[in-house]
Amino acid sequence: FTDKSAAHFDVIVIGSGIAGLSVALAAAPRRVALLTRGEAGADGASCWAQGGIAAALGAGDSAAAHARDTLVAGSHMNDARAVQVLTAAAADAVHWLQANGVAFDRHGDAFALGREAAHGHARIVHAQGDATGAAVMRALTQRAREAAHIQCLEQSVVTELLCHGDTVYGVCVSGAAGTHFLRADSVVLATGGIGALYRHSTNPDTADASGLALAICAGAEFSDMEFVQFHPTALRTGGSGQLPLLTEALRGAGAVLLNGSGHRFMPAIAREAELAPRDVVARAVWQELERGETVWLDATRAVGADFPQRFPTVFASCQAEGIDPRVAPMPVVPAQHYHMGGVRVDAYARSSLDGLYAVGEVACSGVHGANRLASNSLLEGVVFGRELGRRLALQPSPKLPAPPLSASRLCSDAQVSEAIATRIRDLLWRHAGLVRERTGLQRALEELKTLEARAQSTAEFGRIAVARAIAFAAIRRRNSIGAHYRSDAPQSRVG
Ligand code: SIN
Repeated sequence: FTDKSAAHFDVIVIGSGIAGLSVALAAAPRRVALLTRGEAGADGASCWAQGGIAAALGAGDSAAAHARDTLVAGSHMNDARAVQVLTAAAADAVHWLQANGVAFDRHGDAFALGREAAHGHARIVHAQGDATGAAVMRALTQRAREAAHIQCLEQSVVTELLCHGDTVYGVCVSGAAGTHFLRADSVVLATGGIGALYRHSTNPDTADASGLALAICAGAEFSDMEFVQFHPTALRTGGSGQLPLLTEALRGAGAVLLNGSGHRFMPAIAREAELAPRDVVARAVWQELERGETVWLDATRAVGADFPQRFPTVFASCQAEGIDPRVAPMPVVPAQHYHMGGVRVDAYARSSLDGLYAVGEVACSGVHGANRLASNSLLEGVVFGRELGRRLALQPSPKLPAPPLSASRLCSDAQVSEAIATRIRDLLWRHAGLVRERTGLQRALEELKTLEARAQSTAEFGRIAVARAIAFAAIRRRNSIGAHYRSDAPQSRVG
């Protein structure tokens, strides 16, 4: 290794989900290195997204109505300007995806629009029924592989952000060919969420807070860490870790939640019943489970024989568990699903460190407030990803004085021991999960501090730092709001 061998790109994008690919494609003709831990486009949560992409494309709908629903779901904790940008750009984002090869489901000439919880209109554009994320990722990955300005560096794990003062100027990468530095004028985090920090999650194992940890360790500001969303209906499999998602579109299609006595409990809890905001439904399911009830999602009447065609992904998950959802209800549990908090960014996706940007789930622009509205996440990735890519394409090269790099700084240790990973998952699930209270959160913080003393690698320090930031933020916010519910202050929820 020599310092001179560190390749220089205009832009480094870390992560190849929908947000990372959107940045990379829109940044042409800048030279982009697209870094991904596995295979490009295949190892993140985007390909697992089922519901679809929210856009006001139906008769009688409007971007303003979509914005209102987004604000209500977020308990008005959202950044109103970001919401306006997101919802106003939604229709164009869908058309851009279509132009890039995504074949959305249609009814004749029009998009087939699905319904999901807390949306006042049917406005969910989808592809191949419930396989929207996979269809979108196939198309964008192919475009990225064809693009002359993008170099895909697969099997590449970023172990450190290189900083000089408050400026990020590159990354340290561990890959098949060993460990090396890459320099860039702009480094973009598009690494996704934090599901692997919870005992049950709908996210893939690769959603392990790696990008957030890199940013925190580099000194970037973060915000809204306590706002962790739990999906009400993951399939109860008896296992832990990743659980199959039963898309909210099922409830949009009329599926109902039943307790062990076959009683439909949601109408007594919320006017919108099963289509109440996600945090409300998730807590109601949790309460039933805490009472010792089994909770079921019953789509036998609403979907029935059409299940395999309309929801092929869910159907396959059920079959793997020996359940036939055409004729039998599906057992459900809530599971961690999405992180509204993350690396604090402004309206231009800029973090508090010069040269460092964040988009998609790792970022916190405030667009989701205290609780994300269904099907706004793929949308966020495309809208803010494209917007950032376009800006980076226009940005003149800063020509920073390049600080020297020394091989002794190379950091290759990206391992997190199973013992530490499991302890974090248990602590956050128990104390910083759907229902929190002060004593439990304090206990979690103390244990995380002890765990920190045992940490051996930068990656372990990073993951513990993220877990501590979540628990700390959850203690500090004493009121219940959106996805953050404190049983020691249950009445204070607003929105
Ligand atoms: C779902 O399909 O239920 C999830 C959609 C989302 O999280 O936006």
